[in-house]
Amino acid sequence: MLRVGEEEGFIVDRPAMMREAQKLFTEVDDLPTIPTIVINVTSLLDNVDSDPDQIADMILSDQVLAARVIKVINSPLCRTTNKIPSVKQALLFIGFKKIREMILTSYFVGGFSQKKQSFDIQRFWIHSFSVGAISRRIAHLVGYPDLEKAYLAGILHDIGKVFLGHYCHEEYGRMLAGITNSSVTTHEAECRTFGTTHCEIGLCLAQRWNFPPVYGEVISFHHKVEMATEDVFLTSIVAIADFYCLSHYTAHPVAQASVPGVSEEYSWHTLVENAPDLKSSGLEHFLSDLDEEYEAICIEVAVLFSSIVND
Ligand SMILES: [Fe+2]
Ligand SMILES: [Fe+2]
Repeated sequence: MLRVGEEEGFIVDRPAMMREAQKLFTEVDDLPTIPTIVINVTSLLDNVDSDPDQIADMILSDQVLAARVIKVINSPLCRTTNKIPSVKQALLFIGFKKIREMILTSYFVGGFSQKKQSFDIQRFWIHSFSVGAISRRIAHLVGYPDLEKAYLAGILHDIGKVFLGHYCHEEYGRMLAGITNSSVTTHEAECRTFGTTHCEIGLCLAQRWNFPPVYGEVISFHHKVEMATEDVFLTSIVAIADFYCLSHYTAHPVAQASVPGVSEEYSWHTLVENAPDLKSSGLEHFLSDLDEEYEAICIEVAVLFSSIVND
């Protein structure tokens, strides 16, 4: 057996956990899909040389997509002073990357929101959006070059929980109830209950949906950053954002330790390596500085969430 890491009381056998995740996947035949139009539009948006007219036409050919773009763009989240009436204006005003991020997030939320869950899905998304927003903020502070990527990776980091909460509804619900008010983390409890976790399940989803590998890596290793190889910097940013949000009770039901573990310590060292100025502040101080913006971020998250789910 390949031992890749150890946690209190059990051995983490990553290949075995991946096999368990894939086994759960093969038992499912109604996985939400991302519409082809969304894949096509986002790949056009990835290319900075794309013609805004062509993208706007493509978005307009799908009524639901066009309505979502206009709605999010005119929500308080975007802080536009004047109403933006057209998709093309939105593209030029907000930028391709931001539109890509909005389209993708609205489809992830929409794709799973109709399904029954063993936990409060609204709180789940509020946690996810908060991690996204805090990841973007940290990325800015530490000089990570792609803020939108940090935001999207933050939103997606726990996507595997939505799969477990739906397809393993009763067992996952029992597991969560069993760890409420205990010091056992969701990640540890999943490993004991399913032989795999939301990280491996999330990776399977990311691969099924053809996400760029970097998102799969963040999803896979945000609780084991020391195992990341593709983009350790980004994975560290999301891990620290997750730690911050968990200690601010944005996830439910959780019973998370409020002291940084091996993964968070590793992440912090990675941030310091990339932004040496942080060294003098220390993790605790760095996180407490985020508090100033946390309330504003919570309001933004609530606005974005309601503009997506109330379609
Ligand atoms: Fe997680
Ligand atoms: Fe999380």
